[in-house]
Amino acid sequence: MTDYKNKVQKILSLRETPPLCYLHSFGCQQNVSDGEKILGLLTEMGYGVTSDMFSADMIIYNTCAVRENAELKIYGLIGNLKHLKEQKPDLIIGICGCMAQQEQVVEKIKKTYKQVDLIFGTFALNELPRLVYDVLSERKTAVDITEYSAEIPENIKAVRSGSFKAGVPVMYGCNNFCSYCIVPYVRGRERSREPQAILDEIRELSKAGYKEIMLLGQNVNSYGKTLEKPVNFSELLRRINEIDGDFKIRFMSPHPKDATKEFIDTIVECDKICKHLHLPLQSGSNRILEAMNRRYTVEKYMEIVDYARSRIPDFSFSTDIIVGFPNETYEDFKGTLDVMRRVKYDNIFSFIYSKRTGTKAALIDDKTSDEDKGKWMRELLEVQREISTEFFKRFEGRILDVLFEAESKNVGWYNGKSDEFIIVEAKSDVNIIGQRKKVKITKAFNWALQGEIIN
Ligand code: SAH
Ligand code: SF4
Ligand code: F3S
Repeated sequence: MTDYKNKVQKILSLRETPPLCYLHSFGCQQNVSDGEKILGLLTEMGYGVTSDMFSADMIIYNTCAVRENAELKIYGLIGNLKHLKEQKPDLIIGICGCMAQQEQVVEKIKKTYKQVDLIFGTFALNELPRLVYDVLSERKTAVDITEYSAEIPENIKAVRSGSFKAGVPVMYGCNNFCSYCIVPYVRGRERSREPQAILDEIRELSKAGYKEIMLLGQNVNSYGKTLEKPVNFSELLRRINEIDGDFKIRFMSPHPKDATKEFIDTIVECDKICKHLHLPLQSGSNRILEAMNRRYTVEKYMEIVDYARSRIPDFSFSTDIIVGFPNETYEDFKGTLDVMRRVKYDNIFSFIYSKRTGTKAALIDDKTSDEDKGKWMRELLEVQREISTEFFKRFEGRILDVLFEAESKNVGWYNGKSDEFIIVEAKSDVNIIGQRKKVKITKAFNWALQGEIIN
């Protein structure tokens, strides 16, 4: 890798000013984290970073393949770049990430979108210098979607997109093969980072003043199984919790099948861990859960929720739900609504099932109509609105810890997230972005809370 880095540096150093790269990551936090590493590599090679696509010499889309919509959007965006490339023939256009890891996608891009110069999958981070060199030196399309072994990109310094929140991958890949999901095919098998590497990285982030660390993985609580000296996720969490610093810990996403009592106890007992769990349910019907290959039942899921609430009555939950899995019936769907009402989620991310070529569910002859799926989705959103309207009221009068992230639309107001991962708005005369404040909640809406900063 170093060899090619030097070669690229040499080519770029001949230019009067450093060329600029614009990168946009789609999809999950793991992808965002990969994007930060890609920018890290490119800056080492001599590129500057820009947030203005039109002034860039290189445009990279780091793509997501989880649903068809995500892919269609990317095709649209690549199509739009054709004119830009005609105006700027030296512009380098790169497509990477999960979409680019699929052969049929690469074929389509090569055939239909000739403006693309660089295509690389999720395994090729370490190969990027070679690919960039090929494009710069030979001006030919460079493609690498090889599924390399379990190599973890450990020596790449990320260019982080945030200055107070940081994503830290703890494991890569997924072994679960939920029947609807493309991720195991585009991200390969589970592999965990060494605990020491994770702890060192977080120590540095804490020293640099980061206020929130989000541990990342497709199935974070399966962490450590592939290590020579296995360490489980709870142990890792406890060790991170001991690191000095004024930061809080979150993680995304745990899988219910690996959610043990020990795991919940760890969250409850570690002061730096937010008492919020994003626990993807997907469906509230045991029949559908089995067809999805989720390997838990509604009863097992509710046991986790009940246990967490027995330790902290106000433990906060959010979830992912898929509506309209092949041959789902209204009875099945009602099971999902039932679990929603029992758990009372603070937040739900709901998706209409999207068929992904290559997955098991794609082979099912689906008799459920799109019309029904749309109708159920609307019903789900309405039920969730009712739940959060009522449930958010519990916060009125209470004091929450809020990390402020941005200015609100209303001048003088700022918004951030509470430990429960709920949007909170408050007024301030000074800029409080990046600061954690205690906020007394004065008003609950169904999507957010409003309050007064008390210190
Ligand atoms: N690894 C994480 C989630 C990865 S994808 C987990 O297991 O929770 C994020 C969410 O996208 C999933 O939780 C699921 O709700 C949704 N999703 C994945 N594949 C999908 C598909 N084919 N159609 C619709 N939604 C899907
Ligand atoms: Fe996909 Fe299931 Fe793996 Fe999540 S756990 S990434 S939904 S296969
Ligand atoms: Fe999408 Fe890949 Fe993440 S498919 S959700 S970007 S792992």
